[in-house]
Formats: sequence, structure tokens, C-alpha cells
Amino acid sequence: MIEPPVNSPASMPSSADTPGAAPCGPEDMPPASLPSYAIRMENIWTRFGEKVVHENINLCLPRGEILGLVGASGSGKTVLLREIIGLQTPSQGEVFVMGRSLKNVQANDSQRLRTNCGVLFQKGALFSVLDVFDNIAFPLRELGIRDEELIKHLVFMKLENVGLSPRDAWLKPADLSGGMTKRVALARALIVEPDLLLLDEPTSGLDPISSEDFVELLSRLHRELKFTVFMVTHDLDILRDLCTLVAVLADHRLVAFGPLARVLDSQHPFVEEFFHNKRAERVFHHYQETTHGQK
Ligand SMILES: Nc1ncnc2c1ncn2[C@@H]1O[C@H](COP(=O)(O)OP(=O)(O)OP(=O)(O)O)[C@@H](O)[C@H]1O
Ligand SMILES: [Mg+2]
Repeated sequence: MIEPPVNSPASMPSSADTPGAAPCGPEDMPPASLPSYAIRMENIWTRFGEKVVHENINLCLPRGEILGLVGASGSGKTVLLREIIGLQTPSQGEVFVMGRSLKNVQANDSQRLRTNCGVLFQKGALFSVLDVFDNIAFPLRELGIRDEELIKHLVFMKLENVGLSPRDAWLKPADLSGGMTKRVALARALIVEPDLLLLDEPTSGLDPISSEDFVELLSRLHRELKFTVFMVTHDLDILRDLCTLVAVLADHRLVAFGPLARVLDSQHPFVEEFFHNKRAERVFHHYQETTHGQK
């Protein structure tokens, strides 16, 4: 993780704290806020006026996992992601990131949390007035890093990591293809070397080949950098090939959580509709055959 050049509070617990902790969903929450979890949401209720979006959401995501969150449009996936990065406060309940509660975070702590999280938003991925270099450098400068040589080194390293060429650094967002835009946004999310990466529909708008390339890239970076991923996605290939855990948001709640094979067994109507239509059956047919008996 890139350290901000300020006096930082005591360091975050490391991923070695409680290795191998079991994933847990709505029914099997462990008793304490263990630091082995990258994310832990406890009894989350979200209301906007009369409208209830989340009703008692409980979720914990062990470090190193790749969680895919699915749900109908408007079910509250982006709001949940915003609550994890502290952009939105739940009406009730508590969110822990890397074992630390987001309630009453001090200024230093919130800077620390920001360096711990990289985010790729669903909309408005890049600042249109800045070129690629300045877009990727933005989080470093926001953290108060002023060493331009260091910034240059880190930005070009990240460009290479995401498969872009140094020449691309001087392009404006309007000159990028959809796939390149996602890569730049990913480079910007990773520039602070976060322990937790949050992605909101990272492949939406990409053609199948660009989407597949992006999945391969993410998979390689995850193997190399070992961050935890919380990803909102509708992409069945991503759920099958990349996600180690799947969560389903429906009826304001998490109605299924666990490895894909377990989620596929759920009888909930949304799960039936989402995972057992014709296209999904084609995508998961082979998967179910190969994982049969390993649940
Ligand atoms: N700040 C807000 N004020 C009022 N309502 C809001 C606010 N933010 C979100 N909502 C409402 O909360 C609900 C959930 O929104 P959210 O953006 O999380 O949906 P989503 O599951 O991400 O949908 P999509 O798949 O279309 O992106 C929507 O009805 C939305 O209008
Ligand atoms: Mg959304």
C-alpha cells in the first residue's frame, strides 16, 4: 500500500491475521469483527425517505476473495458499494473495512482507509479534462504526494501493469476505446496499491473480447497483488471464471451467498430467473457438471 506522507495512525491488521477463515453470509455470521475480513457489514438498513433499499444486510468478505454481487437494477448494489467506501452512511448498522469501523472515522483514518481501497465506479470513470497520466496520478496527488519523479515512476508502472503503452499516457479520455478507459480506470484504482478493490460493473459496455481481456487482466493482477475484490456485476462469465464468492441482493436482502455452486442451488425466484435462464444454463452447464459433488 502506498503510504501518505503524513503521520499515519497505527497500521492496519495484516492479511495473515486469521488465514482461511470461512466465508459467511446472512445466516452464519461470526461473533466478532475479526480483522481477517476485508469487509464486514452488520445489520445494514438503508432508507431514502419512505423508500427502503436495504433491510438488515449482513455480509462478511474474507481477505483475498473475489466477491461478485448480483441483483436487479435498482436493488441497491451501488448504494451498498458506496457504503463500503464511506461515501454513503447506512441508516442503521455498521460497516467495517479491514477490521476498522467506518463509524466516527477521524480525518487521518479516512485517509488511511482511502489508501486501502481502490474504486472503479459504474459511471464517470475518468476526469475528461485530465489526460491519462494525470487521471492515474490523481489519487497520489490527493494523498499529498508531491515527488513528481515518484509519481511518474508509479504511473508508468501501472500503465504497463494494465497492458497500456507509455504513449497512451498523453491521451485524453475522449480518445480512448471502452476497453482502454476501463484499463485506465483500473490503473487509477490500483495506483495506491490498495488491499481492497471495489468495482461497479467493470465490464459493462465492453464487447465480449474486451470483456474477456479485462477479466484475464484482473485475474492476473489479483494473483500478483493479492488484493480482495468486491465487484458488482451481471456478467455470467465473470461470475463463473473469476469470482470465488457470489452474493445475491433481492427483496432488499442478501438472499444467497457463497461459492457459485452453492448459490446456483438457491430456490429464490430472482436466483432462478438470473441463473437458470437459457443463456445462463449454457454458461453454467459445464461448470455445474465439473463442480458436482464438490459443494
Ligand atoms: N442519494 C439517493 N437518494 C435517493 N435515492 C437514492 C439515492 N441513491 C440511490 N437511491 C435509490 O436507491 C435505489 C438503489 O440504487 P442503486 O444505484 O444502488 O441501484 P443498483 O442496484 O446499483 O442498480 P443498477 O444495476 O441499475 O446500477 C434506487 O432506487 C435509487 O434510486
Ligand atoms: Mg449500480
